Amino acid sequence: MSTQAIGVFDSGIGGLTVVRELLHAVPQERLVYFGDTARVPYGSKSVETVLRYAKEDTELLLSHDVKMIVIACNTVSAIALNEVIEAAAGIPVIGMIEPCAKEAVMLSRGVIGIIGTEATIASGAYEAALAIEAKRQSKKITTYVAACPLFVPLAEEGWTDHGATELIAQEYLSGLRENGVDTLILGCTHYPVLANIIQRVMGASVTLINSGAVAARQVEAMLGKHSTTNTTEPKHTILVSDVPRKFQRVGERFLGRELPEARQVVFKEAWVVKREAIATSE
Ligand code: DGL
Repeated sequence: MSTQAIGVFDSGIGGLTVVRELLHAVPQERLVYFGDTARVPYGSKSVETVLRYAKEDTELLLSHDVKMIVIACNTVSAIALNEVIEAAAGIPVIGMIEPCAKEAVMLSRGVIGIIGTEATIASGAYEAALAIEAKRQSKKITTYVAACPLFVPLAEEGWTDHGATELIAQEYLSGLRENGVDTLILGCTHYPVLANIIQRVMGASVTLINSGAVAARQVEAMLGKHSTTNTTEPKHTILVSDVPRKFQRVGERFLGRELPEARQVVFKEAWVVKREAIATSE
C-alpha cells in the first residue's frame, strides 16, 4: 500500500476538470496538481516549447515523489507523451489520448469527431490513436477534426451558457455536424466546462467523450488493488506558477467544488541566446 501521491499536471487550470474526475474515481488517493498558469496556453505554442515545458513540469512532480503521472492536458499528451514517459523514469504515465480513443471507437457508430487546441489537432495524435484502436476492435471509422482555440478563453471567462459561446460553437462545430459525427471527443481539458453548449449544438444523439473522465477510470483500473486506502480525506496539493486574478473563481468552476489552497512555484531558468539566432543576425 502506497502513501505516495498521484502527480497531475496541465498548462493551467483546465486540468482541474481531470482532477474533478480523479476525486470521483479514486477518492482515497492523494493528488499533487501543477497548473503552469504562468506559461499557459500551450495549445498555440511550438512543438519545441511544449516539449520543454512538459519535461520541466514532469520534473517538478517527480520532486514531490509521486507514484504516477497523469498528463491532464491534451496538448502535452498529443505532443510530448514520450518525453514525459522518458522523464518519468519508470513510473507509470497516463495521457489523455489513448484511453479516449479506445472509448470513442467502442461507443461510436462509425463517425468520430475530435475537437482540441490548434497544437493537438495539428499533431494528428488522435487520428493515429483512433486508427490503431479501430484496427484492434475490428471496426471501420471515419474521423473529422476541428481546432476550437476560442473555447479556452470562453471557458475561463465562465461563459458556459452565453449566446456568444453558442454562436462560436456553431461556427466551429457545423462541419462536424454536417459530416454526421455521432461521437465527439472533447480533446482539451477546458472543454468539459462547455459541454452543455457543445451538446446542444451537436444534437442530443451525439455522444460526448470527456477525456479526463476516461483517463480517471484508467487510473482507477491501473491502481487496482494497489490503491491507497486512506480512511481520512487525503490532503491534496495544488501548485501553480502564477496566481491569475480570477484563479480562485475559475478554478472552483473547473473543479466543481472548493479549491484547496494553492501554492506558487517559480521556475528558475536562465536566458540563453540560441546559436542559430546569432548566426542569422550577423
Ligand atoms: N488544457 C489544455 C489542453 O487540454 C488547453 C489549454 C492550453 O492551450 O494550454 O490542451
